Amino acid sequence: MADANLPEHVARNRAYWDGLAHDYVDSGSLNWESEEPTWGIFSLPESEVGLLPKELDGRDAIELGCGTGYVSAWLARRGARPVGIDNSEAQLATARRYQQEFGLDFPLLHGNAEQVPYPDESFDIAISEYGASIWCDPYLWIPEAARLLRPGGELVFLVNSILSILCGLGRIPPPPRQDDRPPPRQRLHRRAADRSPPTRRRDHPLQTHQPRLGPPLPLRGSLARPQALRLSPGGRRRSGSSRPRRR
Ligand SMILES: C[S@@+](CC[C@H](N)C(=O)[O-])C[C@H]1O[C@@H](n2cnc3c(N)ncnc32)[C@H](O)[C@@H]1O
Repeated sequence: MADANLPEHVARNRAYWDGLAHDYVDSGSLNWESEEPTWGIFSLPESEVGLLPKELDGRDAIELGCGTGYVSAWLARRGARPVGIDNSEAQLATARRYQQEFGLDFPLLHGNAEQVPYPDESFDIAISEYGASIWCDPYLWIPEAARLLRPGGELVFLVNSILSILCGLGRIPPPPRQDDRPPPRQRLHRRAADRSPPTRRRDHPLQTHQPRLGPPLPLRGSLARPQALRLSPGGRRRSGSSRPRRR
């Protein structure tokens, strides 16, 4: 989709992430190398968290906001058939580079996770690790994930806890220095101005505070834990986090 046809918040995010992608190259490599997935700001291992569905072999998965693609790589190594979609071509360039380097191949799409070019019921698993789950409009990407899932499919996603955001942990890095970047007041990552009740996001403090936050702080102690939810159509919900691990 051409930038001009993108919703405004998605176009801004595209420019933002294209500029930020180089900062994610090294961490992407470490995650691609890692045999065991780790999750959240405390890097809790999958063996403790149990975030991934138990049955992965032969299951179709879509990663919504795949970035450098390591979550999809973890799924592929466990027998799933992942597809990654991301809004940033620069992030996908890193993902493609690592696909070659690590000898894994799966489709990578450049696009908006709020509007995925796949038919209804194409996947068994939809997953997002700090991707669509924090950068997309929840009133768009979650229904889109539901549309993409087959009956009995699972949506798995990871976000920052509200407490960690309020305390300034897990901060979004400052935007890259670029002449053509949007002016500061426009660097909101989700729509802020065009919502009416019941969503009331105009008044949401994160809308205005996040873009001004600085780089991540070194994490100490147990102020915040990753919030990992697994949802299934029956409404079953379970927390995916366990004890915080100190770094
Ligand atoms: C923090 S990264 C998380 C991705 C991955 N776990 C990683 O760390 O590389 C956030 C990603 O969400 C992507 N993103 C933001 N808005 C998006 C949208 N509307 N559709 C698809 N991807 C989006 C960004 O381009 C970025 O690659």
